[in-house]
Amino acid sequence: MFEEAQYFAPVATRDDGTVEVELAKSHPGFSDPVYRARRNAIAALAVNHVPGAPIPTAAYTEQEHEVWALVSRELAVKHRKYATAEYLDAVERLRLPADRIPQLQEVSELLEPLTGFRYLPAAGLVPLRDFYGVLADGFFHSTQYIRHHSTPLYTPEPDVIHEVIGHANALASDRYARLYRLAGGAARRVESEEALEFVSKVFWFTLEFGVMTDQGELRAYGAGILSSYGEIEEFRGMDVRPLDLAAMGTTKYDITKYQDVLFRADSLEHLEDVVGGFWADCDDDSIAKLIAGAR
Ligand SMILES: [Fe+2]
Repeated sequence: MFEEAQYFAPVATRDDGTVEVELAKSHPGFSDPVYRARRNAIAALAVNHVPGAPIPTAAYTEQEHEVWALVSRELAVKHRKYATAEYLDAVERLRLPADRIPQLQEVSELLEPLTGFRYLPAAGLVPLRDFYGVLADGFFHSTQYIRHHSTPLYTPEPDVIHEVIGHANALASDRYARLYRLAGGAARRVESEEALEFVSKVFWFTLEFGVMTDQGELRAYGAGILSSYGEIEEFRGMDVRPLDLAAMGTTKYDITKYQDVLFRADSLEHLEDVVGGFWADCDDDSIAKLIAGAR
């Protein structure tokens, strides 16, 4: 029943070059002009970023650093209980700051010596083929804004807490980072939109919302679960099914609604064999067969 961190607010560039993030009326920051101005400024950093240049520094307020400190502290407690050993080891390797929001450039510099991954700023939703494709080269597109301070434990969109606490920690693991790269290779290799969507759904149900048997119990490795304070305690009670490529690639999900079906790997080796193996050599034909078999 995951409702956090799913929906990207649209970003528009006006004729005069100004960048505007269109927050929904229900967004916790909708009526806060100061927050909205900051969101627009942060989105403009990504829109105007030149590939290869350092990621520009985002201006965060003290209140926002406090949001990071609070969520980071609370999630760390929950991770000890609910995250896989591989993820917890990666947290120790990356050593993100706990008391303030790290700049994406800093995250990139912490990550690169570990697994070669670097961050790229994203203003909002990145087209599927770009988002996944560059994973093959060790790049990860990331939003830079943080949730509104009035709701520190909830966000309707993927914010820097999701992108960094969820994904960068996972990307600090050699084994998870290899899976991200394989997903990127698969997205580059497939040609049809149908096959690309299949690859992205397998990513969704594994690297975003994956769970596995670890230390004798059900633990999470997906970034969407591990960055979601409100819902991390709920995954063990959800509809948890065995890892199944055809089912993951064809299960309908609505990113704006509750996430209630999860897929469980028996172990990290199992995940690598089934999902890593699939991404390593899938193509349009093999995916069409999986889709046909699922009908
Ligand atoms: Fe994500």
